Amino acid sequence: MPRPHLFLSLGLLLALAVALAWWNHRPLWSDSDLALLASLSLDSLPPLPADPSNAVADDPAAAALGAAIFFDTRFSSNGAVACATCHQPDRFFTDGRPFGQGVGEIPLNSMSLVGAAYSTFFTWDGKNDSQWSQALIPLENPLEHGGDRSAYVHLLAEHYREPYTAVFGPLPDLADTARFPLHASPKGSGAALDAWYGMSDADRTAVNRAFANIGKALAAYQRTLLPAPARFDAYAAAVEQNDRAAQRALFNPDEEAGLRLFLGKGKCIDCHNGPRFTNDDFHNTAVPGAPGLPISLGRSEGLRRLQADPFNCAGVYSDADPTDCAALRFLKTSGDTLEGAHKTPTLRNVAATAPYMHTGQFPDLRSVLEHYSDGGLALVGHNELEPLDLTATEMEQLEAFLHTLTQE
Ligand code: HEC
Ligand code: HEC
Repeated sequence: MPRPHLFLSLGLLLALAVALAWWNHRPLWSDSDLALLASLSLDSLPPLPADPSNAVADDPAAAALGAAIFFDTRFSSNGAVACATCHQPDRFFTDGRPFGQGVGEIPLNSMSLVGAAYSTFFTWDGKNDSQWSQALIPLENPLEHGGDRSAYVHLLAEHYREPYTAVFGPLPDLADTARFPLHASPKGSGAALDAWYGMSDADRTAVNRAFANIGKALAAYQRTLLPAPARFDAYAAAVEQNDRAAQRALFNPDEEAGLRLFLGKGKCIDCHNGPRFTNDDFHNTAVPGAPGLPISLGRSEGLRRLQADPFNCAGVYSDADPTDCAALRFLKTSGDTLEGAHKTPTLRNVAATAPYMHTGQFPDLRSVLEHYSDGGLALVGHNELEPLDLTATEMEQLEAFLHTLTQE
């Protein structure tokens, strides 16, 4: 005859097994967290937005020409600087330095180009509304490539005539250097400036058009620099499938806690959101200036330059119908959030792209997190953020999480 306490023990065991099974499979993330995690996963990355201002944006021949120019140091005044000098492929297209080092030193931190083609505005203050118009700035900046547009068009004729012509049609007839001086630019000084204003309107336009086409080829190349999956993306997939074993194998408890802080107490997701971990907007986060440098006015200055740029989306060198230039037409030009505001950078690969912020103020992630924890007064405008008062453990957890965003 069966003894009652045996039934009792069996029943208890069964209850325990059920509880254990539930414990192992209980969802670790709330429904709203699940939606946020999915929105951060690379699986949510949409196709690249079209760029109507660049007719060759998705032309592989233009991208091949752009790739060659991107690495070509002849496109500089000293023959030693290319885009790749500051945007190095093995550093996720950054340079590991606080300031970019070209012909001179530009007192700004070189930005990653991985996934940048998704942005609406480019550079820390958003002074450009396309990647092709952005490329024209470093080419003529005396501290970066240091050259001039007329010299670059002559270089095209000398070294890239065939691939250029195949994509854009014929170059102007540059043989007559009285009409097309070897050095001329409205941004030049001395002889190059005089030479520019000695040219006819039509010849200046022809040079500008070929110069803009260099930018369009460079942009087509940069559209191929897309983010690749990181450990975080595998974790997000494991969460979506509620695969607890995979989640445990992919993230240790600190990384998981860091992710919770990123979504929760840290409010990082307010600005670093979407699959590239950026809202592509401009914010004043009161990062301290670099010693000895003038204070950056950020977005308010970028807006002024964007509107005055002859190479913007509505300009004559753009391939867009002005009605396609919605970002430029409906520009947010007033409001107290523009002053001292800088572009939210992507956090993909961030652990591998130190130093940080627009002038490389912070040498490591810990200093960035200490800034968010302590807060501070903005040098211009006002800090949008309240101090987070993070504990040392919380900072370690956030940092551990940020390391999971590096692609494998
Ligand atoms: C001397 C270093 C240096 C060189 C050379 C250089 N860059 Fe940069 N790049 C920078 C810096 C610094 C910034 C930020 C500039 C700013 O905020 O005004 C930047 C920003 C950018 C951005 C904006 C990214 C974003 O997400 O907004 C793009 C795109 C870019 N560079 C492409 C290029 C291309 C193309 C070339 C070659 C024609 C080039 N760069 C040459 C240092 C450099
Ligand atoms: C209000 C919007 C906002 C919030 C919230 C925010 N950030 Fe940022 N983040 C920015 C902006 C803007 C920059 C660039 C600021 C600059 O250079 O002046 C930045 C820069 C960074 C950088 C440097 C990246 C680089 O390539 O230079 C890191 C790392 C970073 N943020 C992490 C975080 C973390 C972690 C949190 C949450 C604790 C957070 N951010 C919250 C807007 C924000």
